[in-house]
Amino acid sequence: MRPLIAGNWKMNGLGAEGLALASAVRKGLGEGGQGVEVLLCPPFTLIERVARAVAGSPIAVGGQDCHPKASGAHTGDVSAPMLKDAGATWVILGHSERRADHGETDALVRAKVEAALAAGLTPIVCVGETLAERDAGRAEAVVEAQLAGSLPEGFAAAKGVVAYEPVWAIGTGRTPSDADIGAMHAAIRALLATRFGEAGKAVRILYGGSVKAANAKPILAVPEVGGALVGGASLQAEEFLAIIAAARVAVA
Ligand code: PGA
Repeated sequence: MRPLIAGNWKMNGLGAEGLALASAVRKGLGEGGQGVEVLLCPPFTLIERVARAVAGSPIAVGGQDCHPKASGAHTGDVSAPMLKDAGATWVILGHSERRADHGETDALVRAKVEAALAAGLTPIVCVGETLAERDAGRAEAVVEAQLAGSLPEGFAAAKGVVAYEPVWAIGTGRTPSDADIGAMHAAIRALLATRFGEAGKAVRILYGGSVKAANAKPILAVPEVGGALVGGASLQAEEFLAIIAAARVAVA
């Protein structure tokens, strides 16, 4: 399976710097992804411009959220068909910052995933435990419940992606040990295989949380890690390109 390296720009980037970043990633990547799938998820306001800037390159563009409905009286929200219309082919859903800042529940995330699939977008569904949950020995149980509640039927067949992002590792510079990442990814794989059968065995499982050039290689070499969801380090082209290069080594 080709690894996926996805950049989550979060609420960062005005026009000039966002386009400079997208262009630098495009230039650094060259003609082909060389075995790695690359995705940029800028804020809504830049999706159309970034999509234009990377058109014809191997780089895909995604949103960071969508509403469960296709249209309607929902001031300030953006729907999955709108993302698609702007040039996105992917969408990140259920990120822990959305779950925390906007009270998103598993049921809401699931409805959003269904909307994304209906619009023809590939969803990346984020799950992960807090530090208190890990310390209490509940990390796997929390992730299991999030997966059960957030993934609709048909998720695996539609090639949806799961991202394991321990909340305490996001933006903190801390990462779990490779053994802990491996244990959680193996647990997620087993759950996906039980629920979705053969298709569940092929779901890509990303790791996210303080991935940077310096730690990408060992993390991407952990069994069942199918790529990375990168926040802070995706805002610097050199860093992000180095993570992509590490993914190439991991598949070579
Ligand atoms: P980080 O964010 O790489 O800055 O830790 C990852 C994410 O939130 O997707």
